[in-house]
Amino acid sequence: MPRDSSRGIVAFNCENSCGHTNVGTTVRAMATTFEDAWQAASGVEGWLLPAQGKALFEAGRRLLPGTVAVEIGSHRGKSAILIASGLQGDSRLTAVDPFDDPRWGGGPESLEKFTANIEAAGVASRIDLFRGISSEASAQWDGTPVGLLWVDGAHDLESTLADFDGWLPYMAPGSEIYVHDAFSAIGTTKAIMQRFFWSSHVHYTGCERTLVKFQVRPTTFSERVVSALGVCSRLPFFARMLAIKLARRKGMKSLERKLMREDNEPLI
Ligand SMILES: C[S@@+](CC[C@H](N)C(=O)[O-])C[C@H]1O[C@@H](n2cnc3c(N)ncnc32)[C@H](O)[C@@H]1O
Repeated sequence: MPRDSSRGIVAFNCENSCGHTNVGTTVRAMATTFEDAWQAASGVEGWLLPAQGKALFEAGRRLLPGTVAVEIGSHRGKSAILIASGLQGDSRLTAVDPFDDPRWGGGPESLEKFTANIEAAGVASRIDLFRGISSEASAQWDGTPVGLLWVDGAHDLESTLADFDGWLPYMAPGSEIYVHDAFSAIGTTKAIMQRFFWSSHVHYTGCERTLVKFQVRPTTFSERVVSALGVCSRLPFFARMLAIKLARRKGMKSLERKLMREDNEPLI
């Protein structure tokens, strides 16, 4: 794999992880608890609820030995900080993002901000970066087994299918796939239904609102039934999320409020 290039895999060797100052920000000691990790990530722009951040931190913590975590879609580093803070020993996270694509809020300063944020959080030494899209990264992957795949890139059907299909061959038995904006974005939801609804090797294990969790291992018939029922149990939520988004788009404020379970209910 290419190293130290402007695109492809770049290893961070953070020399600042012991309290030096980096782009005007004090570098923290690496967090060891979720509360500290959430605090470290709190100033970083992103779209994660505390329960979702905790799920990522804990998934990083229980990463299978001999595997790596892979993140599709890093933006400014919020979720990368949470996963990397949870990692134990010499476990690592590969963060995949083109960073410069304006379709997804990227620009010339994006990579710089991501780097500054993970350095400030003290986790840069645990993160490798692939600068490019998920399908490019999976096509060039060296075969290292993946223990956690966090899918939070483009949420259209084609991209999400490419995320699943590109990385599934590398997923270790017992590994986890976490998908954000599931049962909220149409493309992500369709991709889940197409690939995981009745799968012989991926099954639903739970969710934190739109963060939906799957485990990769051969499934028995009854496990498949339970998994399919779990996926189906998210459909009323999906319908409500779509209705709220539609009401918002059409400016129907009172309908939007009626559909929400709490004031300003998050759509993530
Ligand atoms: C919702 S943001 C990610 C937020 C981040 N996971 C967090 O919680 O802080 C989506 C990111 O995915 C990136 N992206 C879009 N399509 C991608 C793809 N096919 N592969 C990798 N990254 C992608 C965008 O550049 C953007 O930075």
